[in-house]
Amino acid sequence: MPLVPMRVLLDHAAENGYGLAAFNVNNMEQIQAIMEAAEETESPVIVQASRGARKYTNDAYLRHLMLAAVELHPKIPIAMHQDHGNSPKTCFSAMEQGFTSVMMDGSLLEDGKTPSSYEYNVRVTREVVQAAHAKGVTVEGELGCLGGVEDGHGAGLSGEEARKHLTDPAQAEQFVADTGVDALAVAIGTSHGAYKFKRKPTGEVLVMSVIEEIHKRLPNTHLVMHGSSSVPEELLDVIRMYGGYIKETYGVPIEEIQRGIKHGVRKINVDTDNRLAMTGAIRKVFACQPTEFDPRMYLGPARESMKKVCVERMVAFGQAGNAGKIKPKTCQEMVFFYEELPQKAAPQKAK
Ligand code: G3H
Ligand code: 13P
Ligand code: ZN
Repeated sequence: MPLVPMRVLLDHAAENGYGLAAFNVNNMEQIQAIMEAAEETESPVIVQASRGARKYTNDAYLRHLMLAAVELHPKIPIAMHQDHGNSPKTCFSAMEQGFTSVMMDGSLLEDGKTPSSYEYNVRVTREVVQAAHAKGVTVEGELGCLGGVEDGHGAGLSGEEARKHLTDPAQAEQFVADTGVDALAVAIGTSHGAYKFKRKPTGEVLVMSVIEEIHKRLPNTHLVMHGSSSVPEELLDVIRMYGGYIKETYGVPIEEIQRGIKHGVRKINVDTDNRLAMTGAIRKVFACQPTEFDPRMYLGPARESMKKVCVERMVAFGQAGNAGKIKPKTCQEMVFFYEELPQKAAPQKAK
């Protein structure tokens, strides 16, 4: 089947009460790891590429690698998503490359660093929604800015500055009405990368209550958790054991993500855990087999190690077993869907 719009996967997840991991990719081995995990667990898949990933791979390589994934895994519905689009231009170029979903991250200005105004965020997000929905492409927006609310920890905003930029539930309701996004990324104290929390997070720093409040106000909007790697100790141990240095750090516990899934979270972004898994595996080969120089001998174990993380997340988030249950739709069919109801409510599992 061709790539499917992400909305199709999110709607099925909402109807059936599960979440979908969205894994970042930058090369062939990462795409293979995700697809092998999806085959093994019969999971629908969200693959996402950041701007950096598109630059690193070159769009043409990425496009053809995704076409290979589709060809080799005809029974797995796959959505291809632009992660953190920094401008409408980035989202439009992704659509030209065949992405079936885009994130317009208007919570930050085009530099990807400076928090923007609400008006700016609505303007750019609305512009992308109009163009994307006319092509049947799904849109994720973001309100609030990611960042660790513990002082000096986490990437991007931190401390009081990050706390000020947690998503305001009332404003979230307004934002969805103003933009028509399919999915909304919310800021609840997570940050990208390995350094999220200095200790196992409590509700003070990982503010899951914000999700519960937003879901009450927006029961029909798919919520997205960014910065949701769990940074498991066993992956850090492998890196440390084979000469790497990673300070003490904690990620987002799986049980907190599962709590989010009960309250409308349908997409969970995971990149760092896969980076840690691959790095540990490569370090191990370099340390234990110093004479080895065939890239397949370290990229193969790296791919295997990432696949294991993907399988674990697919099972934990509940997407496992659902690949064959989804009725795929094309982007063209989604055009009719959006035309029919400009603000079509996303279905939810009956309570
Ligand atoms: O947005 C964060 C993802 O982990 C992608 O990271 O921009 O280094 O590709 P990146
Ligand atoms: P992690 O760094 O926690 O894996 O988050 C990835 C992410 O949010 C990509 O958008
Ligand atoms: Zn993110």
